[in-house]
Amino acid sequence: MSDGTRYTKATWRIMEQLLDVEDMEEALSGSLEIIVEVLESEAGAIWLLDSKTDRLSPVYHIGPADISNISIENGIGLEGLVTKTGKSVVISDAASDQRFEGTVFDDNGLTSKTVICVPLNNLHDNIGCVVIVNKKDGSSFDDEELRLAEHMASLAAITIDEKGFTVELDESKEVLASLRGITKEFPSGDGVLKVLKGINLDIYKNEFVVILGESGCGKSTMMNIVGGMDFLTDGTLTIEGKDFSHPSDAELTKYRRQYIGFIFQSYNLMPNLTAIENVRFIAELVDDPMSCEEAIASVNMTDRANNYPGQMSGGQQQRVSIARALVKKPKLILADEPTAALDYSTSIEVLTAIEEVVKKQGTTVMMVTHNGEIAKMADRVIKVRNGKIASIKKNMHPLHAAELVW
Ligand SMILES: Nc1ncnc2c1ncn2[C@@H]1O[C@H](COP(=O)(O)OP(=O)(O)OP(=O)(O)O)[C@@H](O)[C@H]1O
Ligand SMILES: [Mg+2]
Repeated sequence: MSDGTRYTKATWRIMEQLLDVEDMEEALSGSLEIIVEVLESEAGAIWLLDSKTDRLSPVYHIGPADISNISIENGIGLEGLVTKTGKSVVISDAASDQRFEGTVFDDNGLTSKTVICVPLNNLHDNIGCVVIVNKKDGSSFDDEELRLAEHMASLAAITIDEKGFTVELDESKEVLASLRGITKEFPSGDGVLKVLKGINLDIYKNEFVVILGESGCGKSTMMNIVGGMDFLTDGTLTIEGKDFSHPSDAELTKYRRQYIGFIFQSYNLMPNLTAIENVRFIAELVDDPMSCEEAIASVNMTDRANNYPGQMSGGQQQRVSIARALVKKPKLILADEPTAALDYSTSIEVLTAIEEVVKKQGTTVMMVTHNGEIAKMADRVIKVRNGKIASIKKNMHPLHAAELVW
C-alpha cells in the first residue's frame, strides 16, 4: 500500500471511530488503538492534563508495561514538554536521550528505543499528549508517521472538545501491590507451560480494578500469586513496599489470613453452618475482625443470618461469602468471577454489595470477570492477553453497579 493510501485509510478509521463515541474513555482508547496499530508500534499511552492541578496523568495505555502509577507536573519530562509547548518530539535513541529523565520509561518492563510524542491539541488548548513507543520491526519512526500521529491525536482532541468531555484526575494514589516482571511456569509433560510472561502492574489503595481477558490468558494465576495462593517463578511482588516475592510459610499464612479476602465463583460456604456461623468461623481466625452482625448487615443478609446455605439462593450465598471476606477487614479483596454463576439482577445485588463495602471501608478490589459491562464500574480496567498486560484504562467516570445493563 502506498503511504498516501495508508494515511487516508487511517484517518478515515479514526474519524469513523470518533463519530459515535459516547464518552471520553472510548474516544481516547479507540483512537490510541488505531494509532498504535497503524504505526506498527509496541506500546502507546495517552496522557491528559488536569488544568486544576496542572499535572499530567496517563489514562490509557497499550502494551506490556505499567505506567499508570505516574503523574507528572506539566512542563516536566517528555510528556510535560510536549503538552506545554504543543510541539511534537521524535526520539530515535531513547537510551541516550536526556529528555527521558524523570518520565515513564524506567523500571516499567518496557525498554524504549524509538519514541514519538505528539500533543493532544484541540485548537484552544493542549489537553495532553500521545506517546508511541518502538516500531515493532526495530526501525525508527519517519516523518510521515509523525504527521499521521499528530493528525490522529488532533482528531481525538477536537472530538473531546466538541463533545464537552472533561478531565478530572484523582492522583492521591498510594501503591498497595506492585508486580514487576512476574513470570509463572507450570510443569507440563516433559517441558514447562509459560503462563505469565512478565506482568508489570501496580495496584493502588482504595481502587477497584477489573481484569478482563480470554479464558486461559492467566488472570486467575495472576490473582493467586497476588493473594499468596501460588508462587511466582520469576520477578518481584511487593506489598506496601515490602518484598513479598518469596515469603516464608509463616508470613504467607498471616498474609492470607489478615490481609486478603477471597471471593470465588463458587461460594464455598460450609453447608452445616448458618450464614452468620460461616462468617464467625473466619472471624475467629483473625486478630481484629469486624463484628459478624455488621458484616452480614453490610451485604443485606441480616434477615437470613440464621439460614443454612441450602436454604439460600445463589446470590444470597454469594453475599454471605462477601461478608465472610469482609469480616477480616482485609486490605485487598480478590474476586475471581464472583457473578459468573448468577443471573442479571442477582449479579447487580452482589456487585452493589461489593461497591458499597469498598466505598465505606476503603478496601482495594481486584475483580476478574468475562463481562465487559462490569468493567464500567472499575476505576481501572486491565486487559490481559497471553500472559501479559495488553492495556490499562482509567475510567474517569465509573458507573454504579445499579447502572450496569446487560
Ligand atoms: N496448577 C496448574 N498446573 C498447570 N497448568 C495450570 C495450572 N493452573 C493454571 N494452569 C494453566 O495456566 C493457563 C492460565 O490459567 P488461568 O487459570 O490463570 O487462566 P484464566 O485467565 O483465569 O482463565 P479463565 O477465564 O478460563 O478462568 C491455562 O492454560 C491453565 O491450563
Ligand atoms: Mg480464571
